[in-house]
Amino acid sequence: MNRIGIFAGTFDPPTLGHLDIIHKSMHLCDHLIVAIADKPVKNPLFSVEERMEMLKKIAPKVEIASFHGLIVDFAKERKASFLIRGLRGFVDYEYECQMTHANRKLSGIETLFLMADERHTQISSTLIREIAHFQGPLTDFVPLEIESLIRRKMT
Ligand code: COA
Repeated sequence: MNRIGIFAGTFDPPTLGHLDIIHKSMHLCDHLIVAIADKPVKNPLFSVEERMEMLKKIAPKVEIASFHGLIVDFAKERKASFLIRGLRGFVDYEYECQMTHANRKLSGIETLFLMADERHTQISSTLIREIAHFQGPLTDFVPLEIESLIRRKMT
């Protein structure tokens, strides 16, 4: 069976938590697609190209793609078996429930949840952008390979 999983997000920027979910997901599917939302409701700091470059650097063994519009349409186009999302705790639960139910209603696709590692539960992209803005240390929050790309953007 060819199980295609899609881990979609804004990844603005990708975090150590995202990378943890990518590593965990790789064992669950035959082919993993990390999909960057091109035009999310949020207004991202990093362009799609920059987020693509960062994800390719930290996850060279998986496919990195971007999508425009609804995730369910992209999932259909790529014949995905399921969507994958990471949960950091209760804070994520309500929002994730809404998305899961909406996506199921829209196309019948299921969402698989993975629990983020304990040490990554307090990370968020917003926090990282703020720390980077004030030139704070990023080592505990983002993979080493992309620190310089984030710093470059902030200067
Ligand atoms: N570790 C650390 N942080 C994590 C994390 C983890 N494992 N998982 C999520 N986060 C953080 C991110 O840093 C981010 O923080 P921020 O809010 O400060 O930016 C936040 O949690 C969520 O970001 P991300 O994981 O990138 O996903 P998202 O919630 O921005 O992505 C989409 C949502 C893009 C998947 C969803 O909006 C979508 O599918 N959009 C397309 C349009 C569509 O189909 N809409 C209908 C959906 S029902």
